[in-house]
Formats: sequence, structure tokens, C-alpha cells
Amino acid sequence: MEAATALDQLDVITAQTYGTIGYPHDAWTRLRRESPVHFMRTPGYKPYWAITKHADIVEVSTQPERFRSAGRFILFPEVNSGATVNLEENPPLRMLVNMDPPDHRDYRKLVSGWFTPRAIARLQSRLEEITAEMFDELAGDGSPRDVEFVREVAAMQPLRMITELLGIPREREQFVLKVTNENFGLEDPDFQREGETPEERLVFIQEAFAYLNELIEERRREPRNDLLTVLAQATIDGQPVPTFELFSLIFLIMVAGHDTTRNSISNGLVALMEHPDQLEKLRRDPSLVETGADEIVRWTTPVNHFARTATEDCELRGRKIRKGDSLALFYASANRDEEVFADPWVFRLDRDPNPHLGFGIGEHFCLGAHLARLDLKVFFRQLAERLVSIEPAGPVELLKASFVGGPKRLPVRLRLRPR
Ligand code: HEM
Repeated sequence: MEAATALDQLDVITAQTYGTIGYPHDAWTRLRRESPVHFMRTPGYKPYWAITKHADIVEVSTQPERFRSAGRFILFPEVNSGATVNLEENPPLRMLVNMDPPDHRDYRKLVSGWFTPRAIARLQSRLEEITAEMFDELAGDGSPRDVEFVREVAAMQPLRMITELLGIPREREQFVLKVTNENFGLEDPDFQREGETPEERLVFIQEAFAYLNELIEERRREPRNDLLTVLAQATIDGQPVPTFELFSLIFLIMVAGHDTTRNSISNGLVALMEHPDQLEKLRRDPSLVETGADEIVRWTTPVNHFARTATEDCELRGRKIRKGDSLALFYASANRDEEVFADPWVFRLDRDPNPHLGFGIGEHFCLGAHLARLDLKVFFRQLAERLVSIEPAGPVELLKASFVGGPKRLPVRLRLRPR
């Protein structure tokens, strides 16, 4: 059936597809083999080039002057980017992910010191504490419990870590979670409010800005030892950072800082349940998380795509790209590239080297990669140490979105050893 479909008709972008079959690996495999740089025409979307090979994503991502991030930085359906709410051409936020050099470098410098390997290593003991407390609660007296893993488990540890790092009080964690769900679930009816129009759907950004405004004002009056204080006092070329860009930066860290990690934890668990040999290996040797964290990111690729816009006519793998064309970088496809990975379809916690593109590459390489890796290592090490048994307890429901991916609901029966 698939082979009969013309390549440009393959659906590798609609939220519906991702919500139903998950990542469209069969279609990507065909594209990688037959036409790795392919011009796609999907009803409801402006045409775009699907970039499915590892080498081409590296080439595009490392030339930010030729392929800009400003503009169409994620592919949304046209219904979401209509006349009044044009998410692609007129985004409601100006964040690192849709900025270009030289501004991008100035803004990234404001926060990069907080996310270096050394800075992140200092968070390890706190992260271990947060995770152990969460597992204590889940373990109870050691009897099996039915839990909805995404909401009750995977979301909690990364959310608490990023809110603590920023300095957002614990009682507002649920607000942050709601904003994040609405942001990443823009196309998923489960995360929308009843009867709302596309304009109304963006109301969560105003709500988040109003709250961030309170926090920034508070930090300017009473500085503390947190990232919000650093940002409240930040300057670029001696000038205070403009409010819109400042809020956009905080918003990005707030939402990117835990949604993706939550999805990699949930999907990592699915992978381990589907590969009991790997789970068993991990239980016998929890230090496998050292390489396993990256294999989970490769295998699950929680950020499926970002997009770029060509700033000039150019060629990529012999295809003529025109100025203004959009290119979708499908990281999840690159992470199965047969030319780069030996046995790409094998989930192997000891894979090393593992040059996956789950965190992107180049100018926009994930700011939070070291934090995400540490989150995953601490989480799966403690899980391996305390796990008595785990099994599915109902159907998995997938997020309806093609930008980020993972389970939305993952019911499991879990039994953990009390401490
Ligand atoms: C497993 C978890 C994560 C994955 C898979 C992931 C993935 C990515 C990817 C693919 C990009 C590249 C964007 C591009 O090339 O346009 C990116 C950028 C970014 N990520 Fe992550 N991320 C994760 C966790 C985090 C965390 C914990 C933070 C917390 C601060 C974070 C913050 C950011 C930021 C701020 C950027 C923008 C960087 C820039 O444009 O310079 N991410 N991430």
C-alpha cells in the first residue's frame, strides 16, 4: 500500500498520523532510500522539503546564515496559521529556537553558563533527592499499584527540577504543567479548551506572561539565587533585555525544560517494557544508564522536527532549494539512518558511540541536553534499583502532534521496593 503512494503524498507531518500510528518510520525509511531531500505536498500544509538523512540535517543545522530559524521554525497546519494567528510567520514568542545570529548568540549567552556540564553536575544530589522522594511515595508499602505513568511519574521529576532551577515556587508547578501541555498540544484536542478559536487557544501564553511578569518584578525587588533573578537583571550591550524577548526566553526554558524529558522518560519506559532483555540488563547493572540515556533519546526522539527557511537559492544533495523554501529536519528519521548507525532498529542500552541528533546539532544544539541526560540517568538508575515488577495496565494513548512525540497516557501496574 505504502509503496504505491507517490513520495510527495506520504504523510509524515499531520498530527492525526502521529496520534494514530506514532512516528511514520516506514515512510521515512522509504524517503531515506528513494529521495532523502524531498518536496512534500500535504493537504492543509504549505509545501516543504522533508530532510530525512543524518548528514543533510547536519549540513542544514550548521549553516544558520543560509538556513534561518526565524519564520517557519515548526510546521503547523495552515488552519492554525491562518490570517489572524499566523504561528509560522508571526509567532507569539521570540525565543532562541526562532532567532538567528547574531541576536541568537547574545541571548543564548545570558543563560548558557547555567547549563554547562559542570553547572548541571552540581544539581545531581538534589535531583537524586527529588527522584527518591517520588519513588518512595510510589512504592508505598511495596504492594503493586496502578498508575498513569505519564502524569503521575514521568512528568514529576523534570518539572520539579526545572521549576526549582528557575525559582518558580512549588505551588505553581501545576500551572507550569498546564501551560506546557497547552503549548505542545496545540494540535491535540485533549489539551484545548472547549469551544475555543485559534486566537483563544493562545491565551495560555498571555496567562504565562502575566505570571512571569509578577515573578520578574519580585526578583528585581528581592534578588535570590535562581535563574529568574539572573534573567531579571540581565543586560545585552549594557541595555536591559526587552520584555518580550525576556519572557519568551523564560517561557522556552520553562516548557522545553520538562516536556521533552517527560516524553523521553515515558517512551523510554515503553521501550524497556517492549525489550525485556534490556530491562533485565539494566536491573542487573544500573550503571548502564551512562550510555543508556542517549540510546533512549535516539530511540524515542522526543523532539521530532524543527524547521528552517532557506535565505538564498542553493543545492542540497543535488536538489535545487529556492530562497524562502521550508525544510523540515526529521531528527527521528536521522536517528534510524542506516548509513550512520549499526543496527539502527535495535534498542541497545550499551550503544557507544551514539551520534544521534535527538538534541539537534550546531547553533541551536539543545541548551538543556546535559540536564536532560542527568534527569534520565538519575530516573532510570533509581527505577532499576527499586523495580520489583512493571507491566502494561491499559492501552497507550499517543500525543496528537508532529513536533514533539510520545505517549499521552501510559497506564501501568508498578511495584517498587520501599527504601
Ligand atoms: C530529552 C530531552 C530533550 C530533547 C530531546 C531536546 C531536544 C532539543 C532539540 C532537537 C533542540 C534543537 C532545536 C533546533 O535545532 O532548532 C533543542 C533546543 C533547545 N532545548 Fe532541548 N531538548 C530536551 C531537553 C531540554 C531541557 C531539559 C531544556 C532545559 C533548559 C531544553 C532547552 C532547550 C532550549 C532552550 C533550546 C533552544 C536552543 C537554541 O535555540 O539555541 N531542552 N532541544
